[in-house]
Amino acid sequence: MRIVSVVGTRPQLIKAAALQPALRRHHREVFVDTGQHYDDAMAGNFFEELGLTRPDHSLGIGGGGHGDQTGRLLIALEPLLGDANADAVLVYGDTNSTLAGALAAAKLGIPVAHVEAGLRSFDRRMPEELNRVVADHVSRWLFAPTPAAVSNLAAEGITSGVLEVGDLMLDLATRVIEEVRNPAVLATIGLGLGVAVSPGRFLYATVHRAENRDPNAMARWSALLGAVAEPGRPVVLALHPGTRAALDAAGIALPEGVLIVEPQGYRTSLALQLHAAAVLTDSGGIQRESAWLGVPCLVLRTTTEWPETVGGSGSSAVLVGLDREAALRELAARAPLARTAEQAAYRASHLYLVGPGAAERIASALTGAGEAFEK
Ligand code: UD1
Repeated sequence: MRIVSVVGTRPQLIKAAALQPALRRHHREVFVDTGQHYDDAMAGNFFEELGLTRPDHSLGIGGGGHGDQTGRLLIALEPLLGDANADAVLVYGDTNSTLAGALAAAKLGIPVAHVEAGLRSFDRRMPEELNRVVADHVSRWLFAPTPAAVSNLAAEGITSGVLEVGDLMLDLATRVIEEVRNPAVLATIGLGLGVAVSPGRFLYATVHRAENRDPNAMARWSALLGAVAEPGRPVVLALHPGTRAALDAAGIALPEGVLIVEPQGYRTSLALQLHAAAVLTDSGGIQRESAWLGVPCLVLRTTTEWPETVGGSGSSAVLVGLDREAALRELAARAPLARTAEQAAYRASHLYLVGPGAAERIASALTGAGEAFEK
């Protein structure tokens, strides 16, 4: 098939890196980068690091409000997709680039394939929730990562074209994990960050969600990060440029013990998670990665699209929202200060990842037959 894949943000570049080799074994790909993320640290560096091919089309559409950004994406994508003679348009995840790619294709009558279909936070105040609901409802092929995602789709009446394929990002993590398993990698990483990091002696944090860029929310999570930092166990906060700008605009400075660094590449982020005492994040991707790595993860949200990571006893992640006391309590239980170096060493040496083969399943399920699979 001739497949136009549309990416635009950091997590989509990571997912495209996981899928592209299999996709190109089975199909002809036209690779479109919307440019929703445009800084080197958020986008450019990932091409080289992950071996992604250069895009056939770079649209350079980043920044702006939601309606403005989505509108510009639609205007740019419609003629491109109209001329592409495509059998399918493939979109990933839940960003404005996903929404625009899916909508533009559906309106042109081109079948849409949605990777990471069926995820729901059940919170329609989140821009991502609106994007994923719309993308799912206009898609012909819905590649669901989890059984819960398949059930969510069924609950909305979508059963045709749904295939549970597992998590594409676990395929990629499995591919590179041996490069970061040895804690010695932290020495080089620390030099790059300008911050000394040793196994189990730091907390790794990221914050980028729209709801966490509100001044009140920023005051709360920055106080939370300050409270969990300990002498000899700082918080290393890899800060999204949008969050940094919001902090600056609100005049909020991070407390002592919270060290701000640039957004990190894929391997460095994986290494920082694996060797941290614990992770604090509002990212869905990091929440899943920390579950595979077995590192305690405090989710700075009150909902999740990945209920299996916060499920039963022994699960590695817990939703703490912006509740400082809950964060302190969970951290003390899951990563007690006296034990975190030992926990991190054990984790790194015993880790064993197995990718589900999601990339191959997606690529081989896409056929010219249209409704390729029925439940
Ligand atoms: C987007 C997605 C979100 C996803 C996240 C992954 C939407 C609605 N949100 O959020 O689902 O989890 O990507 O990171 O699509 N900016 C820069 N440099 C960049 C990229 C962004 O400075 O390289 C600035 C933008 O100018 C903007 C802000 O960051 O002011 C937010 O960027 P935007 O692309 O709108 O959404 P994200 O917050 O990155």
